[in-house]
Amino acid sequence: MDKFIDRFSLEGRKAIVTGGAKGLCNGMAQALHDAGAEVVLLDVLDIVGDSAKEMSKNGAAVYAVKGDLCKTEELEHVYQECLEKLGGRVDILLNGAGIQYRAPAVDFPRDRWEKIVAINMSAVFYMSQLAGRTMLAQKYGKIINIASMTAFFASVLIPAYSASKGGVAQITKALSNEWAGQGVNVNAIAPGYMATELTANMKEVNPKQYEEITGRIPMGRWGNMEDLQGLAVFLASDASAYISGAVIPVDGGFMGK
Ligand SMILES: NC(=O)c1ccc[n+]([C@@H]2O[C@H](COP(=O)([O-])OP(=O)(O)OC[C@H]3O[C@@H](n4cnc5c(N)ncnc54)[C@H](O)[C@@H]3O)[C@@H](O)[C@H]2O)c1
Repeated sequence: MDKFIDRFSLEGRKAIVTGGAKGLCNGMAQALHDAGAEVVLLDVLDIVGDSAKEMSKNGAAVYAVKGDLCKTEELEHVYQECLEKLGGRVDILLNGAGIQYRAPAVDFPRDRWEKIVAINMSAVFYMSQLAGRTMLAQKYGKIINIASMTAFFASVLIPAYSASKGGVAQITKALSNEWAGQGVNVNAIAPGYMATELTANMKEVNPKQYEEITGRIPMGRWGNMEDLQGLAVFLASDASAYISGAVIPVDGGFMGK
């Protein structure tokens, strides 16, 4: 038998990472790539091409596809473009693109609600559906959705985000129920409080909450990009073969307190 550690390898695997141009998903895409996978970064930002170039300096190929996950009618085309770049096979789909907006529920703008739900939740389902068709035909696939701690509890001032991430957790379980028996594992990562652009304005908007959160994290610090890389590779690899339908926190111990 091969060495156990070889089960973590992603050599020869093909991955699509949505929201991969920057931030946490860029970090997870980098980790998949470092573990051997060919990667397509799918993102709405113009910098996605540069992000792919930066990542592909050594190892397997990294491609960029520009696409807006809000535009439901274009998703099939965007997915086909990703599939083509990967030569018709997709082993890993990491649904990571996400946006945030803070406002009291009573004033929360409808256009913001709809955009957040479209990108954070509906696109997770639509992209999984498209990749699922390929993966079910292959009898092999790993879908990794990026949820949040707000999949377990709803935070204040972010009703749309909380609802969308709760939805991501349920989509993960629903798809797992249908596909886990056919070779397609579907799991979610629930990052805790991460120090990124998405959360950067929290210190100013709600300093009291910021301090309370930091004090409540058993590890005493907010997480960073590197903290998610190990779990992303694990869930994308054969080392996690018997794990499906799980929503796994990476939160410095927050959920245990
Ligand atoms: N930062 C945190 O504390 C935190 C905590 C829990 C979960 N998350 C989740 O992690 C993921 C990444 O967050 P981040 O902090 O790195 O944010 P980020 O803003 O740095 O990255 C998000 C990426 O998604 C892309 N994106 C946004 N809208 C898109 C669209 N319509 N089409 C295609 N791509 C689009 C952006 O261009 C960007 O590259 C998100 O799903 C977020 O909800 C973040």
